[in-house]
Order: sequence, then structure tokens, then C-alpha cells
Amino acid sequence: MNGRALEGKVAVVTGAGRGLGRTIAGALSEAGAAVTVASRTPEQLASFVAETDALGGRALAVPTDVTDEQAVRELVDRTLEAFGRIDILVNNSGVLSSVPLLEQQAGDWDRVIDTNLRGIYLTTRAVGRHLVEQGSGKVINIASNFGLMGVPHHAAYAVSKAGIIAFTKCMAVEWARNNVQVNALAPGYFATELNSALRADSAATAKVLRAIPARRMGEAAELAPWVLLLAGAASDFMTGETIVIDGGQSAR
Ligand SMILES: NC(=O)c1ccc[n+]([C@@H]2O[C@H](COP(=O)([O-])OP(=O)(O)OC[C@H]3O[C@@H](n4cnc5c(N)ncnc54)[C@H](OP(=O)(O)O)[C@@H]3O)[C@@H](O)[C@H]2O)c1
Repeated sequence: MNGRALEGKVAVVTGAGRGLGRTIAGALSEAGAAVTVASRTPEQLASFVAETDALGGRALAVPTDVTDEQAVRELVDRTLEAFGRIDILVNNSGVLSSVPLLEQQAGDWDRVIDTNLRGIYLTTRAVGRHLVEQGSGKVINIASNFGLMGVPHHAAYAVSKAGIIAFTKCMAVEWARNNVQVNALAPGYFATELNSALRADSAATAKVLRAIPARRMGEAAELAPWVLLLAGAASDFMTGETIVIDGGQSAR
């Protein structure tokens, strides 16, 4: 893939303040795209923009709660105002809950489903309107290999991620004739703040590593190239797919 393959393109990345989303946003910028970064923590977004400016890239911070319909509308409006178009949407924002079902409060269930599913619905609908009208675009949803497996203590999270995989297929077929490709990535364990509680527990971490044939967690830099492929011409005839990147965990 050409190093600046996304020159002239505009990307929106949710949950880009830290973790996987930040690395993805950086990779899109390095590939030449102008990038709008969105999450609820303005300081993290501002530091991404400063970093990108220093490297000669173009980035815009729009503090956004993806569950808030009005905020998502503003995210799209401000991106169009700043960059004039949108070509790529990376739905990466997400939250995790790890609790036995019998102990889970309904509010916690709702928080996970709302953030991970309602959020992706709102952003895809708001950005998708422009992609469909434009007759081109890429939507890349960050699901999880938990959406493909039965995982104790993670029902809400796994259900939300399975929902994202189904949503990916639905929107792929709905928008295929509009030349908008919708694909998903399903990462396994990557060391980020999302699983910091797990990684602080050495026995639990060892158990997780035993379940991963590669015997390690992934690094964000190992996910970003797949986003670049799905964001570029490589995916022009590929839609509705979910690519699993998990060191073999779900292949056993
Ligand atoms: N790390 C893993 O092992 C792993 C594995 C499989 C899938 N994933 C998925 O990868 C994605 C990124 O996770 P990560 O590991 O990078 O986690 P992370 O470091 O906790 O980052 C999550 C990001 O989502 C944002 N976010 C959360 N709720 C939001 C909301 N309501 N509105 C807007 N942004 C929101 C967070 O920002 P604010 O809190 O500032 O809003 C943060 O930027 C998630 O969808 C996660 O499910 C991660």
C-alpha cells in the first residue's frame, strides 16, 4: 500500500483519545487523511491534535458522547465545516463490563449496550447520509472476538459486539449499491486501559494468555494496518466482512 494512499480523504474516528482508536487515528493521518477525533475527554483529543499538527497532519477534535444524538450531529457538521467531506468512519468507541450476570445491575447492561450499539447506530446513520449521497465511503466497525464466542461474565459486551457484526452485514448490503463498504475488525486482547484491571491481576492475565495460541496480547500497531486496508481501495469489492485479529484465540 502506498504510504500516502489516503491523501485527500477525510476520516472520523470515535474513541480516538487513547488506546486503539488513537493509534488508528494516527495511522490514518500518516497515510494522508485529515482526521476528526471524537470521545468524551477533550484533553486527550487536544493532545492528539497537537501531536498531529507537529507532524504536519490535519486533525480536528470534537468532544462527543456517541450516545447523544445531537452531539453526533455536531460531530458530522463540524467535520464537514472543517474539511468539506467525509470518506471514512471508524466506529471504535466502546466500553467493557466484566461481571457475572446474576450480579449485573440493569444500568450497567444499558451502559454497555448504549455505548457500543446505540453509539455505532447514531454515528453510522449521521455519517452514512453523506457517504450515500456522495456515492462512496468506508465504514469500519471495531467489534471484538468476544462477539463470536461464549465468554462468561461478559454477556453485555459480547452481545454488543455480536450486534456490531450483524449491523456490519446489514449496512453492507443496504449500502453496497451506493458504493459504501462496511466492514468490521474483531480484535482479541490488546493491552489498553479497557483491560487494565485484568492486566493488574497476574493470575487472571496468565489464564488469558494460556487461551491465546500466540501466548501474548496484541499491540495497537498490529491493528492499524487492517484499518488502512479497509479504508482504502483494497476493500472496494469487499463488504460485510469481519476480520479477526486475535493471535488465534477464536480459531481453536
Ligand atoms: N483492548 C482490547 O483488548 C480490545 C479487544 C477487542 C475489542 N476492543 C474494542 O476496541 C475499541 C477500543 O478499545 P480500547 O481497548 O482502545 O479501549 P480504551 O483505551 O478504553 O478506549 C476506549 C475509547 O472509547 C471512548 N469512549 C467510551 N465511551 C464513549 C462514549 N460514550 N462516547 C465517545 N467515546 C467513548 C473512550 O473515550 P472517553 O472515555 O474519553 O469517552 C476511549 O477513547 C472498543 O470498541 C473495544 O471494545 C478492544
